[in-house]
Amino acid sequence: MDNVSQIKQKLDIVDVIGSYVSLKKSGRNYKGLCPFHGEKTPSFMVSRELQIFKCFGCSEGGDMFNFVEKIEGVDFSQALEQLAEKADVKLEKKGFGGKALLKNKMFEINELTANFYHHLLTKHASGKKALKYVKKKRKFSGSTIKTFNIGYAPKTWDLLQQFLSKRGFKTQEIVQAGVAIRKTSGKGCIDKFRNRVVFPLKGINNKIVGFTARALGDNQPKYLNTQETLVFQKNAFLYGLDRAKVEIKQKGAVCVEGSIDVITAFQEGIKNVVAPLGTALTINQLKTLSRYTQDVTFCFDPDPAGIAAAYRAISVAEKQNFDIKVVSIPKTASDLDDLILKNPSKARLLLKNAASAYDFFIADNLKKFSPKTAVGKKKIIENLKPLLSRITNKILLEHYTKHLSEELNISEDILKEMLKTTKKEMKVQEFEEPATEKGMSKTNVEMYFVALLLKSDIDTIKSLLYNLKPEDFESLTLSRITKQLKKEKKKINVRKFIDKLEEEVRPAAEELFLWEIEPKNLGTEVERAYKRVKRRFLRKSLQNLSKEIKLAEMQEDTRNVADLTTKFEKLKKKLL
Ligand code: GTP
Ligand code: MN
Repeated sequence: MDNVSQIKQKLDIVDVIGSYVSLKKSGRNYKGLCPFHGEKTPSFMVSRELQIFKCFGCSEGGDMFNFVEKIEGVDFSQALEQLAEKADVKLEKKGFGGKALLKNKMFEINELTANFYHHLLTKHASGKKALKYVKKKRKFSGSTIKTFNIGYAPKTWDLLQQFLSKRGFKTQEIVQAGVAIRKTSGKGCIDKFRNRVVFPLKGINNKIVGFTARALGDNQPKYLNTQETLVFQKNAFLYGLDRAKVEIKQKGAVCVEGSIDVITAFQEGIKNVVAPLGTALTINQLKTLSRYTQDVTFCFDPDPAGIAAAYRAISVAEKQNFDIKVVSIPKTASDLDDLILKNPSKARLLLKNAASAYDFFIADNLKKFSPKTAVGKKKIIENLKPLLSRITNKILLEHYTKHLSEELNISEDILKEMLKTTKKEMKVQEFEEPATEKGMSKTNVEMYFVALLLKSDIDTIKSLLYNLKPEDFESLTLSRITKQLKKEKKKINVRKFIDKLEEEVRPAAEELFLWEIEPKNLGTEVERAYKRVKRRFLRKSLQNLSKEIKLAEMQEDTRNVADLTTKFEKLKKKLL
């Protein structure tokens, strides 16, 4: 058996998806809120019997591999790796070289290190002071400490190395993983993090790629990060993304300055927050983010450095076609963490009412330069031009040019003209059409009927199937599905049944099985639907007959008219 089948045999799609999305049983299937588009009423269906999922809102669908690819933003081979690990299936590695082995070792070292530090913080006497710091000063709850696997690196020089070498790791490997460093003078190595609160950094594959560690007191540097390693690329890493990705898909991302902000926000129930590691946001980080969303809210500290960072981040995100909003933390707080601790509801409100980057930029420029002087006007327009000229939505454009023309006392026409010039040079932003609600409707009589049939016991629908004729169906696909149903005996296994169908009709059958129809009495509902299908066929036949009669009348073919009319009357009786 190949790896894929092995994994599919060992894992259940309901469990796989259930670890990301809360699913509720609905008849023979499960339903939940689609993680791929924002929705308030569930149209996301998962089938245990078919081992597939399908969203009737945005039409994403597929098997567990498709799901993991989509939700994790990874390719098939990475999805395979993740699911193999979950299923405890050993992959037949193709070209499994030394580098991959080394990477695996690093993940192991990081994992052990995180657990070691976490143990020291939560259970060991040496972590007492640090525990007090995270609980009292940072206000982290026990469950937050656990969720983020926060730890304490002791003051000692090489306790971690001793611990790791006992587990069989060589000094060389420990250094390469980034948790120990070579002494600059003399021989040997020392642990990299000492007397610090340690935060493991999780990659999107849920493996620990490195650490960020905060000094306990005023020791410098305040934060110490793992350097670049084989498994850690700092400029593409976003703290918190591993935990935030599902919410980010639904709500867009909030990007803050520090990892502590992420944790405090999470603890407050704001779970779509990520942070770079103390650097300006890079293109790589935004590329990572764009796998999950095109909506980003930048939340920056109120100091000049924070504003400057906002400008930089916005200009990078602009180029990546993000829809950008900006929140400026009020001066009474130093950052989001501080604001949440002081006034959580205010923080929530602030994020909820985030202004578009346009408003933010305009307000900031009007503050910085005088809108009354010629030089000020010129400067303001120059600064805003790159941003505003990207607006493709006519209403937005109208709104902002009007607003700005009033503020600057310049005619709208001139302003529009100035904004136009650069527009041609810019890549036009593409707006996605909103997903329409489709599929779930029961208006299509024959689809509804076949959907019911697929959930029925063959024995109880035997006679009904017997009376069905291919011409009862307008859709060839549906008629082919029922044709196969007629050949079945007893209770059908839907998966096996669908696999027996011709390939091109399978997706339709799968989708119909996922329809959320669970009538109280399946038997009577099938009968009702059956009658509707038959009646519709009758009505159509009657329509055709009446056309034929008209034609015969025109041709004055009286005999034919009589024949057809008798036929018509007979059929009409059936309908009544
Ligand atoms: P707290 O003081 O613990 O609340 O941290 P903060 O996140 O509020 O710190 P600050 O606003 O000073 O810095 C924001 C981010 O920059 C931090 O989360 C770190 O990732 C990073 N940072 C701050 N100081 C240092 C430093 O000394 N070295 C490095 N490498 N990064 C730092
Ligand atoms: Mn802070």
